[in-house]
Amino acid sequence: MAQEVIKIRGGQTLSGTVNNHGAKNSAVAIIPAAILAEDTVTISGLPEISDVNTLVSLLGDLNINTTLEGSTLNVDPKSIENAPLPNNKVESLRASYYMMGAMLGRFNKCVIGLPGGCPLGPRPIDQHIKGFKALGAEIDESSDTSMKLVADKLVGANIFLDIVSVGATINIMLAAVRAEGQTIIENAAKEPEVVDVAAFLSSLGADIKGAGTSTIKINGVSKLHGSNHQVIPDRIEAGTYMCIAAACGDDIKLNNIIPTHIEPLAVKMKELGVDIQVDDDSVSIKRNTPYKSVDIKTLVYPGFATDLQQPITPLLFLTEGVSFVTETIYPARFRHVEELQKMGANIHSADGTATIKPSQLKGAEVYASDLRAGACLIVAGLLAEGVTTIYNVKHIYRGYTNIVKTLSALGADIWTEEI
Ligand code: EPU
Repeated sequence: MAQEVIKIRGGQTLSGTVNNHGAKNSAVAIIPAAILAEDTVTISGLPEISDVNTLVSLLGDLNINTTLEGSTLNVDPKSIENAPLPNNKVESLRASYYMMGAMLGRFNKCVIGLPGGCPLGPRPIDQHIKGFKALGAEIDESSDTSMKLVADKLVGANIFLDIVSVGATINIMLAAVRAEGQTIIENAAKEPEVVDVAAFLSSLGADIKGAGTSTIKINGVSKLHGSNHQVIPDRIEAGTYMCIAAACGDDIKLNNIIPTHIEPLAVKMKELGVDIQVDDDSVSIKRNTPYKSVDIKTLVYPGFATDLQQPITPLLFLTEGVSFVTETIYPARFRHVEELQKMGANIHSADGTATIKPSQLKGAEVYASDLRAGACLIVAGLLAEGVTTIYNVKHIYRGYTNIVKTLSALGADIWTEEI
């Protein structure tokens, strides 16, 4: 079967303006959350990515009427039916696990295929399950391909997460907003996407306090109405373009950012020596090499995002010393290392840490093992001498709106080919 590859002839200097899109990791929770409403919901500012299309199609499988035009989705859940959700679509993205919390919240019951997504090593959902059980659900995990969740009724509970998990925090909120009584989630994730989902649910009439702190209190309500909601800007997409600009930009301006959300990356970039100017809702960046070597350790928000350790790695080839990247969220998220080695990079990883030394990259044939590894290979390809061919680009399209077109408009020599 023909597949698309992305090709990049590196070495161009990029300039111009990029308009950042809505946050993927908010969008993929807010779309399932819309089924909790009993009236029409309009979600705007969505990224134009394949994960959004897959989730919209899952809503269709529940007999929900949807119209997706550009970045705006209308969801009319009035004719919703509680159908089992098929394995193939669910498997194609990890965030389909939000259908569990949302359907449980809406129907007290759901049958759903097991979630897939980027291969970042083991990604259990035990904390989600623990939360659903605490709210009164019984879970049947006897099938290899699907899971059944059923509750007579959901009743609020105190849930202490053993691990700070974005997915579990959001999923428990989804199941709890229509439960009877109060739910308290302790050791909750504080990521901006958690706050955005809480804001969306509140716009439907939910009673949620404390989102963005480690204790979230939810008082269940019996019904949720419709609303209009605008998704927050994507701090990871923004961060990726910031890395691209620092690698090969001569004055790139990125619009539609929230300064506090990009601060953990901006601070690290300043440490590297990148010329960066953050304004109210934009950031401007110029390449300013050679950079100083830095150490990066991924942490939960507001620490350095795991999703940006791969895209920032190519910048560390432009330094004068040795840099270290330590991954604490997904210790196996280093599948980009082998691909960078194919490009002549001096990089090695062991025990959750990559060691990175100055290198001149050369074009090569490389494989995007996951979404952010793909973003890393794009930055690397833009820096490399000669042509880089990136395979398995479906992962890149899961998370970046029109990335090839956007880079091309900035002056990159980048194109796609069917092979
Ligand atoms: N974990 C468990 N048990 C659970 C849940 C999580 O052990 O029940 C572990 C995970 O294996 C991981 C850590 O806890 O080691 C944190 O995982 P978390 O649940 O926070 O991650 P997630 O919700 O599955 C989201 C994003 C990821 C992002 C992480 C961390 C979505 C759809 N995905 O994943 O985004 O890396 O939070 O911020 O929101 C990406 O965009 O490329 C991406 C992978």
